[in-house]
Amino acid sequence: MFDEIGFPRDPDLEYDAPMLETFVYCSRAAEGIDDSAVDQIIAFSQARNVDRGITGVLVFGSGIFFQWVEGPPAEVQTLITGLYGDARHFDIVQLDRSVDMRDRIYPGWEMERVEAGDIRAVLQDALDDAEDENTIAALNRILAHLDSGPLASLGA
Ligand SMILES: Cc1cc2nc3c(=O)[nH]c(=O)nc-3n(C[C@H](O)[C@H](O)[C@H](O)COP(=O)(O)O)c2cc1C
Repeated sequence: MFDEIGFPRDPDLEYDAPMLETFVYCSRAAEGIDDSAVDQIIAFSQARNVDRGITGVLVFGSGIFFQWVEGPPAEVQTLITGLYGDARHFDIVQLDRSVDMRDRIYPGWEMERVEAGDIRAVLQDALDDAEDENTIAALNRILAHLDSGPLASLGA
């Protein structure tokens, strides 16, 4: 067994995954929110998230946002308050919110914009790589939402 950077794992050394809050939602973009407005949201978010230890993905398609946010609980809660007060979107539907000890699903993504058609593949890749059961359960929930709910048209 090797870790991410190729060192052999020491079986005597306990590794504790970090405590992460996950917030996954979809929402409707406000009138006038176009591709360039979304690029601005991404640029702002990346700068802010890097300081807060938040990572995730944002999908925009057919006037709908889908966002996966993960990070330290206090930081994610601050962001959630900001999201609910943000007039650039409305009708926020929470799809998943949980606090688990687990590794990040998107460790290198301070907020990556993913094309709507790619979201299923991104989530499936994350699921294929996932090792701990909390991560696998969270991803399975979101894939089930994606395949059955209002998001189905996003991945089409
Ligand atoms: C779809 C969408 C996604 C957003 N994602 C993030 C994010 O990942 N990180 C962030 O800091 N702000 C994000 N924002 C902006 C926040 O909603 C909010 O404007 C910002 O955090 C407020 O900061 P302030 O309360 O300091 O003004 C997003 C906004 C929208 C509409």
